[in-house]
Amino acid sequence: MLETSFLAKKFSNPTVLASGILGVTGAGMNRVIDQGCGGITIKSVSLEPRTGHPNPTMIGQKHFFINAVGLSNPGVIEAIEEIKKFRTLSNAPIIASVFAGTPEEFGEVTKQICEAPINFLEVNISCPNVSTEFGDPFAYSIPAVQIITKKVKENANVPVIIKLTPQAWNVAEIAKAAESAGADAICAGNTISGMIIDVRSRKPILHNKQGGVSGPALFPVALKAVYDIYKTVNIPIIGTGGITTGEDALAMIMAGATLLGVGSAVYYEGEEVFKKITDEMEVIMNEEGIQSLEEIRGAAHT
Ligand SMILES: Cc1cc2nc3c(=O)[nH]c(=O)nc-3n(C[C@H](O)[C@H](O)[C@H](O)COP(=O)(O)O)c2cc1C
Repeated sequence: MLETSFLAKKFSNPTVLASGILGVTGAGMNRVIDQGCGGITIKSVSLEPRTGHPNPTMIGQKHFFINAVGLSNPGVIEAIEEIKKFRTLSNAPIIASVFAGTPEEFGEVTKQICEAPINFLEVNISCPNVSTEFGDPFAYSIPAVQIITKKVKENANVPVIIKLTPQAWNVAEIAKAAESAGADAICAGNTISGMIIDVRSRKPILHNKQGGVSGPALFPVALKAVYDIYKTVNIPIIGTGGITTGEDALAMIMAGATLLGVGSAVYYEGEEVFKKITDEMEVIMNEEGIQSLEEIRGAAHT
């Protein structure tokens, strides 16, 4: 009932682990698959290892989660080893994720990660937490998105997914630009920039002061981004942002998503959340007489 085809690859269900959440070791990724997740996105990796920002880097509150991890990662060489380990444990689809500071570095990290046994490559051009180092995310600029997309496509041997920010007011136009530069799919999207202040100390709580907001509060923002992008492009979309329930998941599909990224919900509800979401989807589908996800994809547009 939930089996999904994404760029000709079969997923047992449309949920995928969003980048940055547990997708670091092969064993950890396999555990998430065992818990009912349909596919994995690895934590974004760069050419060189990065330590990221000092603590505190994340905090969860009732309606939202905020993080400024700062793209800490073990670097592309280590990531390739972990992906190989995952492949010895599971045949589930795996999406690698990369980020870099320049188009040339994007080309190089793409070339290297594509030596790993991956199914797709996601390109993170939308992290809001590293602007002091890298400037504004590329995902705000149509020319930058086109340059990066072309560079990655020249160097990739798997389909390329461009990860955008729903914070860009013209996210649909940006998605169109990525499509015309050769993107095979869009992920919409990343966290959006925010902050929290501790009233007693009168200071921002995160060491980085600002961070990326995710979790339930992001859901309607991500949903609208997916809805707008679906109207504009002909390539599939991974809807990501605040999905916590089966109802959220089905709404995202009705907006036009093919796959569903799930991140913060894992912090709130544990790895069992994938099964919880897919069970809830099936209950609603049975109640509503929906036979397949294909039947309702983009249904909110008619
Ligand atoms: C702690 C944390 C780390 C993240 N790291 C990455 C990352 O490395 N690369 C990336 O593309 N997105 C990263 N994200 C963003 C998520 O992949 C996702 O797009 C976002 O959190 C919205 O989904 P959610 O509300 O389900 O968490 C991170 C999110 C969190 C909470």
